[in-house]
Amino acid sequence: MTFIVAIDGPAAAGKGTISKAVAAHFGFAHLDTGLLYRAVGAKTLSDIDPIEAAKTLTPADMQGDLRTPEVAQAASKVAVISEVRAALVDFQRNFAARNGGAVLDGRDIGTVICPDADVKLFVTASAEVRAERRFLELSAKEHDVTRDQVLADVIARDKRDSERKEAPLKPAGDAVTIDTSELSIEDAVAAALSVVDQARG
Ligand code: CDP
Repeated sequence: MTFIVAIDGPAAAGKGTISKAVAAHFGFAHLDTGLLYRAVGAKTLSDIDPIEAAKTLTPADMQGDLRTPEVAQAASKVAVISEVRAALVDFQRNFAARNGGAVLDGRDIGTVICPDADVKLFVTASAEVRAERRFLELSAKEHDVTRDQVLADVIARDKRDSERKEAPLKPAGDAVTIDTSELSIEDAVAAALSVVDQARG
């Protein structure tokens, strides 16, 4: 049985938390596609060519702390390169087609990677709420950041991700939007579970 849940949305909207909860609830596998772009971005910080990095990516490249603001910016810069995106397509589609169900979260899952996904969610929240959540997350990991820096990072990435030519960040026409600005984690997860439940029939 294949069953594909596509979860897209802007930076730090809560896609990761919701994706993990949906995957755990239904016993599906989960792929955070942002990590692929972060791994490529991280390699460019050591002067490796982004297209070469994307073509030769291995699981080992996904290790280590890729959730830093520097790597996030590098990720969104390599994500505009069409050869980088193309090199990552097959891995994502193969993952989605696995037996037993899959949740993929990113920016273009419902629009480009899995346009026939069984469920498409677009998870969003105001830039201020998203920046505050990411600030708390980074501070808890002892990253030396300010609220203003994190907000600027979120806004810059959203702009680059939405304005790029290839696979821009936008909701699929048939996606269900969940705005988590005023939702608790529990309520956001419950909203997502109920959409998936309905689609499973
Ligand atoms: O966790 P957060 O929402 O901050 O970012 P992420 O999902 O880890 O993605 C990092 C960057 O990778 C994004 O800003 C995008 O530029 C890029 N990305 C993409 O272009 N397509 C995807 N499917 C996933 C991520």
